[in-house]
Amino acid sequence: MTERIVQTIRTVPLIRDEIAARRAAGATVGFVPTMGALHAGHTALVERAAREHDVVVVSIFVNPAQFNRAEDLEQYPRDEAADVKAAGAAGATICFTPSVTEIYPADFASSVQVRGPLTETLEGQDRGVGHFDGMATVVTILLNIVGADVAYFGAKDAQQALVVQRFVRDLRIPTEIVTSATVRDQDGLALSSRNARLTADGREQALAISAALQAAANAISNGSADSPEAASAAGIDRLRVAGITADYFMIADPLTLEPASQLSGTLLIACAATVDGVRLIDNLTVSANREAATANC
Ligand code: PAJ
Repeated sequence: MTERIVQTIRTVPLIRDEIAARRAAGATVGFVPTMGALHAGHTALVERAAREHDVVVVSIFVNPAQFNRAEDLEQYPRDEAADVKAAGAAGATICFTPSVTEIYPADFASSVQVRGPLTETLEGQDRGVGHFDGMATVVTILLNIVGADVAYFGAKDAQQALVVQRFVRDLRIPTEIVTSATVRDQDGLALSSRNARLTADGREQALAISAALQAAANAISNGSADSPEAASAAGIDRLRVAGITADYFMIADPLTLEPASQLSGTLLIACAATVDGVRLIDNLTVSANREAATANC
C-alpha cells in the first residue's frame, strides 16, 4: 500500500475544497462513515476503500440524532487522536471530524425518513424508527458533503445498509453503496464499539449470540429445521442455555426484511440481545438447502 498522509478537516467548505482539488487531479473518492471508536471492523472498510480509491475519506461523528437514549450518547467512547491514527494506518487520506453544530446548525429543520418494513422491523421495532431517521439524515448530509464515488458500510449492521441503499436509490444520491463482510474475533463475536463495555463474563456469555445464529443457520443448511420457526427455535434454544433472552431473533428476506415464510433461497438471520447491560446485534446470511429441507419433510 502507498504511504498516505492523513489530513484532519473539521468544516464543510474545507473538505469540499480539498475533495474538489483532488478530483481535479483525477482522483476517485471512497468514503467510510463512522462514529469513531474504530476497531478492525471499521478499518477493514477503510482498507477496502483504500484498495479501490485514490482518496479515502473517513468521517468520525457521533450523531446525536440516532441515539434514542441520552445515556447511550453520553457513554459513547470518544478518542479522536487514536481514531485518526487507526484510520491513517488503514489507508485513509482525510478524516472529517465535524462538530455537532457544523452538521446541525441551530436552525436545522430537515430529516430523511425511510418507511415500510425496512425500518419498522428488527431494530426499528425495538428502538423505534427515529433511530433510522437520525441515521438516514446524517448519512444523507455526509454523502452530500463528501460526494464520493463509493461509500462502504458493514454487513454487521445489515438493516442499516439496506436502509441506506433504499434512500440513496429513492433520492438519487450519486454515490454507490457497497456492503462489506462482518469482521469477527476468532471466537466468533462480531466486533463492535460496544464490546469494550462487556465484563470478561459478559463477553463469554455474548459468544452465545454468534453461536445461536450459527445454530439456526446449521439447522437450515443441514435440513434439520423444516420451517423458519423451527430454525429460530434452534437459535433461541442456544441463547437460553447461555441465559440470554433475545430482543428479537428473526429469519427474514435479506432484501425486504419481511419475515421468511419458508426455508428457501438466501435468508437473513438477525438477532439483538442485551448482555451484561450492553445491547448487541449480529446477523448471518445463509443459503437454504431446499433438497435437504424437502427430503426432511
Ligand atoms: P459505526 O457503528 O461507527 O459503524 C461504522 C461502519 O462500520 C458501519 O457501516 C458499520 O456497519 C461498520 N461496522 C461496525 N462493526 C463492524 C464489523 N464488526 N464488521 C464490519 N463492519 C462493521 O454505523 C454507524 O457507525 C453509524 O450509524 C453511521 C453509519 C456512521 C451514521 O452515523
